[in-house]
Amino acid sequence: MPDVKQRASRNRTLQLEEQEISQLDQAIITVEDLARGFRDDSVINADLMECLDLIPDGHFDLIIIDPPYNLDKEFNGRKFTSMTSAAYEQYLHSWFGKVCDKLSPHGTLYICGDWRCTSSIQQVLEEHLTVMNRITWQREKGRGAKTNWKNAMEDIWFAVRDPHHYYFDLEAVKMKRKVIAPYRENGKPKDWEETAGGKFRTTHPSNFWDDISVPFWSMPENTEHPTQKPEKLYAKLILASSRVGDHIFDPFMGSGTAAVVAAKLGRHYCGVEINRDYCRWAVKRLRIAQTDKSIQGYADGVFWERNTLKARASRASN
Ligand SMILES: C[S@@+](CC[C@H](N)C(=O)[O-])C[C@H]1O[C@@H](n2cnc3c(N)ncnc32)[C@H](O)[C@@H]1O
Repeated sequence: MPDVKQRASRNRTLQLEEQEISQLDQAIITVEDLARGFRDDSVINADLMECLDLIPDGHFDLIIIDPPYNLDKEFNGRKFTSMTSAAYEQYLHSWFGKVCDKLSPHGTLYICGDWRCTSSIQQVLEEHLTVMNRITWQREKGRGAKTNWKNAMEDIWFAVRDPHHYYFDLEAVKMKRKVIAPYRENGKPKDWEETAGGKFRTTHPSNFWDDISVPFWSMPENTEHPTQKPEKLYAKLILASSRVGDHIFDPFMGSGTAAVVAAKLGRHYCGVEINRDYCRWAVKRLRIAQTDKSIQGYADGVFWERNTLKARASRASN
């Protein structure tokens, strides 16, 4: 049996104190504020449909979309109800084209989905942009169904406005993996390095990501958002597809992961979220990010296979 007291003390899930709410609210932009002029680095509390016309077209170098999937899901009292694929495509059509208008001529867009909604996403995406790839993220979460395969993957579609002219920084997203077969040539490591912490190889990232866990209660980035994305996952997208100083848009911001990672990595952000509490969580996370720029699983300019590996490697070398 887990020690309940100890568990509680290690639980680092973000919490809001009653007395900080009004201060956090001051940083949240409403549609009325937006109507007076758009500003970079804003957390907008609004229905996306009501504010898209107030956000400048062509302004963003990178757009990351994590929409409600075609599932029954409750977001803090507001229900999203699953529908037929045709109806879900209509839902996507109702905002996707307008969101694409926000993309710069050489911009990149990523959009997430699960097995159920991914074909609808692909269809709508291809009407507007050129699809470059589909990343599969293997995520471990949940108990699994009793009469079906456990759902343990998500897609992240990678699309660009101009396939002949877009930004992609491969060097920024290299991975450091433990070497399974440490071959040597003339006694020297072949394509790997020997450190006090172990034997590692720096590799090119593929479109299959199995090195990222969903946020959980012992991680400082964790909130109570039901579908929060990991910072490490968004860090890969942001580092590969934007430069320092670029502008990043998240039209379904949730707890603010894209904005927080953008800020940590020196990019500008704009996020829209319909739920006030989620906006508060985002603002609080952004405030913490002003002094703590760490991203779990990303250190020394590389992504580590497991969040703990880097810590172990540096402990061993001390
Ligand atoms: C899948 S979640 C995004 C989670 C986010 N990526 C994160 O890391 O926390 C989708 C979010 O879209 C918000 N949402 C749904 N419909 C919206 C709308 N019409 N306008 C703005 N936000 C909306 C929901 O409240 C929910 O927080």
